[in-house]
Amino acid sequence: MSTVINRDAGSVRIAPASEELKAGVENLTLPDPLGFGNLMTPIMALAYYRDGSWETPRLTALEPLRLAPHTQALHYGQAIFEGMKAYRNLGSLFQSRSLLFRPYDHANRFNRSARRLGMPPIDEEVFVETLEQLVAHVDKLVPNKFAQSLYLRPAMFGATDHLSVTPSTEYCFVVVATPSDAFFTTPIKAWIERRYSRAGAGGTGCVKAAGNYAASFAAAAPLREQGFHQLLWLDANSRTYLEEFTAMNVFIRWNGKLATPPLSDTILPGITRDSLLALAEPLGLDMEERAVAVNELLDAIRAGADIELFGCGTGAVIAPVEAVGDESGLRLCLPAPTVAPTLRKHLLDIHHGLAPAPKGWQWPVGTRKQP
Ligand code: PLP
Ligand code: COI
Repeated sequence: MSTVINRDAGSVRIAPASEELKAGVENLTLPDPLGFGNLMTPIMALAYYRDGSWETPRLTALEPLRLAPHTQALHYGQAIFEGMKAYRNLGSLFQSRSLLFRPYDHANRFNRSARRLGMPPIDEEVFVETLEQLVAHVDKLVPNKFAQSLYLRPAMFGATDHLSVTPSTEYCFVVVATPSDAFFTTPIKAWIERRYSRAGAGGTGCVKAAGNYAASFAAAAPLREQGFHQLLWLDANSRTYLEEFTAMNVFIRWNGKLATPPLSDTILPGITRDSLLALAEPLGLDMEERAVAVNELLDAIRAGADIELFGCGTGAVIAPVEAVGDESGLRLCLPAPTVAPTLRKHLLDIHHGLAPAPKGWQWPVGTRKQP
């Protein structure tokens, strides 16, 4: 599969949006409270893959896509996405108005997801410049408040109008954006899922395939009525070990150490997870990647141990868990978190350009040459 891009002296040259579209952004104000995903920016980025190559993405009005009822992705689920954020730059380390967080890592994972589902990758430079241009155009809608951000959702799906059970020959790449609060703003209740599985060996659990999320909905719906926010998945083989939440990786702090399950083909390699692993040592935290048995967690909570459980991800940032439950009627409360708030603050300082970070994590928007 080839990726063809229009380059000019190293620049991808994504054309600016029309004056009318730009004016549409200026007329909008942010809702208060902001919430998650309640206001979509009126501009999106769009590109099609046809005849073996990608066209250069363009910035266009957010409007419904015209799809045939026999569009491949609607039937066979050839669809992937990323979740990433641009934060208002609140520090003096960078000149730009906003900062993308680890955009090349998201580009890389997007392409891993694409390859796993037999889809054509997108040039990483095109991916990042598309996001930069979109963010620059909707700058007015990047929230100024700490911990709020412009949430960005790049997605790709098979767009061929045909029912044969083969990969599409045409694809649509789209990026939409929504000014948002963190996914969770208060501690969450987690449901230990013992009946359904999120991912199996050799499956798609380690990529952001759209179907991974649809497969969790039936399990999650009844729990929401009982006040639970996220499913905590166990390994599909033995139902013994923690894997991750539906939309976050999992960490526990216990016995003086922070632990997270090692990556496998059933766990999404979270960019937030990776960031926390990298930040642990400088923050003086003892971190390990190891299998964590669910009974180890429950026994420790029952014994009144000083234990902490939290999820991490782009949307959520860091979400402490205040209680866990399961279908047997188990309901256990956890002590107030201590490390999660520290990690959250440090990570958000980095997101907002208030603290330095490893190279490539803070990507200033709009400072490279624009067309
Ligand atoms: N695990 C799953 C299943 C997710 O959907 C996400 C969210 O993207 C994460 C983990 C966390 O990944 P990241 O930190 O890259 O957002
Ligand atoms: C994210 O954290 O960005 C995700 O993609 C998870 C979710 C909101 C589905």
